[in-house]
Amino acid sequence: MIDFLRRILLQVSPDISLQFTSTSSSQQAEKINQLTNYFFYAATLILFIVIALTTYVIIRFRHKNNQLPNSKKLNPKWEIVMLGIPLLLVIIFFFLSMNVTTKIAPQSKEKIPDVVITGHQWWWQADYPEAGVTTANEIHLPVNKDLLLKLESQDVIHSWWIPQFGNKMDMIPSQDNFLEVNIKAPGTYYGTCSEFCGDQHAHMQIIVYAESDSAYNEWLTHSRKRAATDSSEQIQDGKRLFIEKTCSNCHTIKGTEANGINGPDLTHLASRSTLLAGVLVNNVSNLKSWISKPQKIKPGAYMPDFAMEDSTVESITAYLSSLK
Ligand code: CUA
Repeated sequence: MIDFLRRILLQVSPDISLQFTSTSSSQQAEKINQLTNYFFYAATLILFIVIALTTYVIIRFRHKNNQLPNSKKLNPKWEIVMLGIPLLLVIIFFFLSMNVTTKIAPQSKEKIPDVVITGHQWWWQADYPEAGVTTANEIHLPVNKDLLLKLESQDVIHSWWIPQFGNKMDMIPSQDNFLEVNIKAPGTYYGTCSEFCGDQHAHMQIIVYAESDSAYNEWLTHSRKRAATDSSEQIQDGKRLFIEKTCSNCHTIKGTEANGINGPDLTHLASRSTLLAGVLVNNVSNLKSWISKPQKIKPGAYMPDFAMEDSTVESITAYLSSLK
């Protein structure tokens, strides 16, 4: 049924970023969804029993055939059954839930995390401590590996959730939270911030590219490199203006003087497919609109309106678009 719906939605809009809780794309999601199915089966069974009993009582004890029942008379046997079944279900599901919670919890929080993900108003930062790589919003992860994600927040509470990976975790300032995920197949997976975090909460899309080991390592190797350089005049102008106009106070571009940490790392900006945590497709015209009128595109975002001249915006755009 879900697959059928998914196929229809994909026909309507092939670029739609679908998020399905019922699709288990990680080992953790598989366990959570199995438990959800047990809940569903139990709830459905109870629903049918309640409907059947209600129907029976309505017909069997119709007013025209019967006197009013005596509400003071208890039937101990039925009382035990009516209380016993729900109690038994609560106990069973308590243990099943504890079992799943334990199984999906990180095996060890002592090892170096594979990725440290930090929530910001309103974008995601991803640091790969062992590789020394930093990126933003589009996060690359290898498949078939127990990955330890460390989740942090720089400002308010955000919440990390990719429905197809199952588990969700809050990102709380000055508290380290961890998630383990083992992704089953390569693909693009989407999520959104799941804790209201201010004006642009709805525009904090998560994009995860799950890749085979070789593709992932290739990406890491590329990302470790410094920013690409191009000697064309406009690009060199843009590079200079990026510093002069103080963009570099907030953004890092590795291999240049720009080393700000308040905004996303832009070292390989041009190799990402979206801008602003999934708000815009990454192309020259969108990048230009964003740089010239950030507050119009993402009101409340911490990037101020610099009221730069058109030619300045164009040079900076050309420079950033060259950062493959
Ligand atoms: Cu970040 Cu909601």
